[in-house]
Amino acid sequence: MTETVLLVGGGGREHAIARAVADDCALYACASVRNPGIRRLAEGFETIDETDAAAVADYATAVGADLAVIGPESALEAGVADALDDAGVYAFGPRAEEARLETDKAYQREFMEEHAIPGCPDYAVFDDMTAACEYIDEYGGDLAVKPAGLTGGKGVKVIGDQVTAEEAKAYLRDSDYDRVVLEERLVGEEFTIQAFVANGDVRTTPAVQDHKRAYEGDEGPNTGGMGSYSDTGLSLPFMREGDYEAAVDVLEAVVDALPDYKGVLYGQFMLTDEGPKVVEFNARFGDPEAMNTLPVLDTPFVDVLAAARDGEPLPELAFSGEATVCKYAVPDGYPTDPDAGAEIAVDEESAGDALLYYASVDERDGRLYTTTSRAFAVVGRGDSIAAAEAQAEDALAAAGDRVRIRHDIGKEGLLDRRVEHMDRIRD
Ligand code: AMP
Ligand code: GLY
Repeated sequence: MTETVLLVGGGGREHAIARAVADDCALYACASVRNPGIRRLAEGFETIDETDAAAVADYATAVGADLAVIGPESALEAGVADALDDAGVYAFGPRAEEARLETDKAYQREFMEEHAIPGCPDYAVFDDMTAACEYIDEYGGDLAVKPAGLTGGKGVKVIGDQVTAEEAKAYLRDSDYDRVVLEERLVGEEFTIQAFVANGDVRTTPAVQDHKRAYEGDEGPNTGGMGSYSDTGLSLPFMREGDYEAAVDVLEAVVDALPDYKGVLYGQFMLTDEGPKVVEFNARFGDPEAMNTLPVLDTPFVDVLAAARDGEPLPELAFSGEATVCKYAVPDGYPTDPDAGAEIAVDEESAGDALLYYASVDERDGRLYTTTSRAFAVVGRGDSIAAAEAQAEDALAAAGDRVRIRHDIGKEGLLDRRVEHMDRIRD
């Protein structure tokens, strides 16, 4: 039987999901941005605000969807999974209550503490910004300052890294945050593991390293993610034996505590001198990380979705064994002062062997232009990170100078620095 699948969301991550399922199902999609890549793959595409749970559920019913995949966290927070489930359409994505693991950082730390999930940094939660500022003065060491709610990855300030203590206090005083988490600054290298979760099963995918900083050499403001890479196996070059497994143990402990969780569970880890610590959990695929993971997943993703819905054990996952490098092209000036309206010169043909994923683009008179968000990404694959990186760069050669790309992502120099950084921390 051919499944009818509704995809919610219109970014690069969702384009990757669309490509992973389109050949094996009847695909429909809805999003607030008209992603041209998804529209080409889908039998139907409707412009709907992803946080309008009732409208998404109505569309799912209208197209006869058997199941749904939810891309963005904003939709999870708005209860889109709840509305779909209630309408009889199985949503691969947690209900709003369980998505609090991502949408409420204070809850997330309290949950870890309550269930003795390994890898929790020391933390404190404040509802009063004056008290939070006093804590910064008293603490004496470096802290990560994290608004409890969703900020698109751009709300966290790390003292001793991006800001001074005085700047962090000014940031809190000038904010209208009503809850903030202050936690021990973790030092090390970050990595992501995404797991498919349903029916108590946890199926993990290769580790990925994202690059949040806007500029080369990890300088500049935080972004939604400028690009990412994965290696031929499950681990990354700066990780040692046992690190991947220790992180998987954390994800499994979360699911033991939340046996009804369904969807993607994304662990963001800091590899420290004491092993992996949890930076955060997300309740959905990463963007860009989905673009690393789904192209190398040999197991049909629709089989995972159907097993999840049918209450069956999830299939064991098979991967192609290729390394991947994903690089986003973003408008010049992104994220602080993005220059929208640059024509996009890369298309699926000119990308060659690399994969092209559209994110936020404007389509006018058959041409594509940047908006104020990340525009498109290319993913190279190969038998090494270097080969994958070269393929991604070939595809980006035509991108022109009105978009910005972090060319250092996946390059040997940066990879070596990561390995040396971890060696220094651990030895
Ligand atoms: P989040 O929105 O929680 O992913 O945080 C955004 C970024 O802030 C992370 O990717 C880290 O680079 C940084 N960050 C968050 N929490 C910490 C922490 N406790 N120590 C150091 N860096 C952190
Ligand atoms: N790549 C970071 C995120 O999706 O949250």
